[in-house]
Amino acid sequence: LATLGVVLVAAGRGERLGASVPKAFVELRGRTLVEFGIAVVTSLPHRGHLVVVVPEDRAAQTLDLVDRILPAETGWDVSVVPGGRTRNESVRFGVDALPGAIDTVLVHDAARPFASAELFERVIAEVRASGDAVVPAQPVIDTIKRVAPGGLVTETVDRGDLVAVQTPQGFPRELLAAAQAAPDDAEHAPPTDDAELVQRAGGRVRVVAGELRAHKLTGPADLVLLEHVLAAKLL
Ligand code: CTP
Ligand code: MG
Repeated sequence: LATLGVVLVAAGRGERLGASVPKAFVELRGRTLVEFGIAVVTSLPHRGHLVVVVPEDRAAQTLDLVDRILPAETGWDVSVVPGGRTRNESVRFGVDALPGAIDTVLVHDAARPFASAELFERVIAEVRASGDAVVPAQPVIDTIKRVAPGGLVTETVDRGDLVAVQTPQGFPRELLAAAQAAPDDAEHAPPTDDAELVQRAGGRVRVVAGELRAHKLTGPADLVLLEHVLAAKLL
């Protein structure tokens, strides 16, 4: 039976946010970011395996959390594994912890706590229909300029075909595994998302519509923004 694998990466330190705890363990109205992520995934009406990747010293707390919030009737198994030094390494550890019978893998940032079940479903459906990697994307609204190191603008970039991408990003399992097994590309900077690995390996990546509520919590202003989203019940 085809089942889903989801890797929820929550092992970052949250340096830009600068809170006293790692970002995924910051609370919004009494619930940690990682709790929102676990809750949305385990509410999906699929069979699957969720791997939550956390800082090593947060593993016990995360297992307790899973015990507390896992719905009684769920098709989901959950495991918790320690993260790596970089996001890419954490994703790799998470994917390595997935069991055998999985056809589709999703990678999601705990830092996007309000990504909706509908967004997950859109990504899953498109992966299964297309056989390609799939990323949620939103049009770029601001004017985009290229700037030289001294601060002088060199160019306005045509944004007509530019998008900003979010998570969850979805992959046929074999496609992601092959991309992760490809040798590191020393010529380019490390990939900043998972789909980039597939692109570098020559695989196809396509977009589905992203959503405002999947906004990533990066700095203090994002915390204020997400608090308001929650308070206003914009969810
Ligand atoms: N992440 C991870 N392991 C790492 C680094 C990041 O699992 N070594 C996760 C974060 O927990 C987050 C997601 O990757 O859910 C996106 O990363 P980012 O927003 O950069 O979070 P942090 O790395 O925690 O923040 P910062 O870069 O400000 O330290
Ligand atoms: Mg980071």
